[in-house]
Amino acid sequence: MTALSIRPAEPLVRSHPRFDQISMAFHWTTVLLVLWMFASAWSIGLAADAAGAQRMLAVHRSLGVALWVVTLARLAWRLRFASRPPLPADLPPPQRIAALLNEAALYAVLALQPMTGLAQSLARGKPFVLFGLEVPKLMARDKATLSLFHSVHELTADLLIGLLVLHVGAALFHGLVRRDGVLSSMIPTARNN
Ligand code: HEM
Ligand code: HEM
Repeated sequence: MTALSIRPAEPLVRSHPRFDQISMAFHWTTVLLVLWMFASAWSIGLAADAAGAQRMLAVHRSLGVALWVVTLARLAWRLRFASRPPLPADLPPPQRIAALLNEAALYAVLALQPMTGLAQSLARGKPFVLFGLEVPKLMARDKATLSLFHSVHELTADLLIGLLVLHVGAALFHGLVRRDGVLSSMIPTARNN
C-alpha cells in the first residue's frame, strides 16, 4: 500500500506585494480621466452645432489640465513616498525592459500632451474657457505654431493609444497567462495577499 501524500494545492495566482492605496487611487483616476479625454475630443466633431462643439472643447481642455495636475502629483508621490512592488524575479529581462520603457513613455506623454493642447489653444489667439473661467487672449493668432501643435497633439494622442494597447495587453497577460500577481498589485479589491 502506498502512503497518500497530501500536498497543499498550487495557488491559482501567486502572491505578490501590492502598490500603496494612494498610487492605486492615482492610477485609476488617471484611467478615468484619459478615457474622458478621448471621449470629449472625439465628441467635438460629433456635436450638433458650434456651441455644442465649444462646450465639449471646454470640457476637454479643463479635464486635460486636471489630468496634468494629477500626473505631476502622481510623479511626485512616486518619487518620494510610493511603495512599488518589484516585478517578479523570474520575469525575463526583455519583458522587464519593455515594462520600464512603456511606463516611462506613458508618464512622458501624460505630462507633455496637456502642454501641446494648451499651446495649441493659446496659438488660436482667442480667449478660451478653463474650469468655467475665461483665459484671456495672450498672443496674436499664429497659424504656423497652431498647426505645429495641432499635429503634435494629434500624433501623441495616437502614440498614447498605442502605448495603452501594449500596457493593458501586458497587464492582462500577467493576470490571465502568467498569473504572477502583477495585475492584482494594482487592483484595490484583489484578494491575493
Ligand atoms: C492627456 C491629455 C489630453 C489628451 C489625451 C488629448 C487628446 C486629444 C485628441 C485625441 C484630440 C483630437 C485630435 C484630432 O484628431 O484632431 C484632441 C484635440 C484637441 N485638444 Fe486635446 N488632449 C489632451 C489635453 C488637452 C489640453 C490640456 C488642451 C487645452 C488646454 C487640449 C486642447 C485640444 C484642442 C484645442 C484640440 C483640437 C480640437 C479641434 O479643433 O477639433 N487638449 N486632444
Ligand atoms: C488610461 C489607461 C492607463 C494608464 C494611463 C496607465 C498608466 C500606468 C502607469 C504610468 C503605470 C506605472 C505605475 C508606476 O509604477 O509608477 C501603470 C502601472 C500598472 N497598470 Fe496601468 N494604466 C492604464 C490602464 C491600466 C489598465 C486598464 C490596467 C489593467 C487591466 C492596468 C494595469 C496596471 C498594472 C498591473 C500596473 C503595475 C505594473 C508594474 O508592476 O509595473 N493599467 N499604469
